[in-house]
Amino acid sequence: MKEMMQKLRDAALQAILESEDVDSLEAMRVKYLGKKGELTGILRQMGKLSPDERPQMGQLANQLREEIEETIETRRRALNEAKLELQLLQETVDVTLPGEKHPMGHKHPMYNVLDQIKDIFIGMGFEIVDGPEVELSDYNFTKLNIDEGHPSREWTDTFYFTDDSRICLRTQTSPMQIHAMETRPLPIRMIAPGRVYRKDEVDATHSPMFHQIEGMVIDKGVTMSDLKATLNLVVEKIYGKGTVTRFRPHHFPFTEPSCELDIQCHKCGGKGCPTCKGEGWIEVLGAGMVHPKVLAGCGIDPDVYSGWAFGMGLERLAMGEYKITDLRLIFENDVRFLEQF
Ligand code: PHE
Repeated sequence: MKEMMQKLRDAALQAILESEDVDSLEAMRVKYLGKKGELTGILRQMGKLSPDERPQMGQLANQLREEIEETIETRRRALNEAKLELQLLQETVDVTLPGEKHPMGHKHPMYNVLDQIKDIFIGMGFEIVDGPEVELSDYNFTKLNIDEGHPSREWTDTFYFTDDSRICLRTQTSPMQIHAMETRPLPIRMIAPGRVYRKDEVDATHSPMFHQIEGMVIDKGVTMSDLKATLNLVVEKIYGKGTVTRFRPHHFPFTEPSCELDIQCHKCGGKGCPTCKGEGWIEVLGAGMVHPKVLAGCGIDPDVYSGWAFGMGLERLAMGEYKITDLRLIFENDVRFLEQF
């Protein structure tokens, strides 16, 4: 019996050390130590031994079981380590390989211009405010002193949401004047950039959606000369020192007096060229002194306070600055166009 165990030991240890994976190790355990395994088979024959021999053989069998189990465990650890080693080797990253290029976007040309304008106004102590694009006609028109019969209220010009024309897409940023006066403490210095909507034909100069920047100052003793001085300063910051301006009388229902501001064409110096369409002047914005009726409608006493406001188209400014000839290019977001800036 001792010899049988010796033979079993030699065979088992060799088989275990030669096994190539964890699965076959498990098979070894079953084969040698399992309930129907070889060691159990030998122990079944203990009955044939004399009572003296039995404990001796029992002890030997236990030692053998332990030895086989330890060998299996040692082999299992070795196999696992080898596997990990191989895996690490295969998964090595070659840090010297060139990286993958991810295309990076950049700021849209129009937002470059907007940021420049924001900086100018922030430098003068203005706040930047935001407001709704879906607007009550009250704010887009009525509170701005735009009468019921005014052509800009027509369904052919304005996008309405309701049959009673009560709610619309704002056609201008001027309702932000009203929002500011109704909600902000005086004095007010603010600009409000944003999208506006009109039922315009889509062509090289028109789009149903475009951007404006509204600006407004309300304080005691504000006059037209403040408006002119501030806007002249802004124009010089955008177009360069010494840019000649011209304030032309105009009409807006919500300002009195009203004007339009032109700059002398920076391309031809006023002689007339394709940029200014032969005019020598380029229209930049509409402006004026906030109408006393508008002030009063917002609960501001026009005998104590006064103010000025302007509204400026953002696309036209960007088109001038970057020599873009077709408005649609600004909204199409074709990367071949955008990459040029
Ligand atoms: N809202 C006017 C427009 O869209 C511009 C404007 C704003 C005029 C503020 C005067 C004062 O044409």
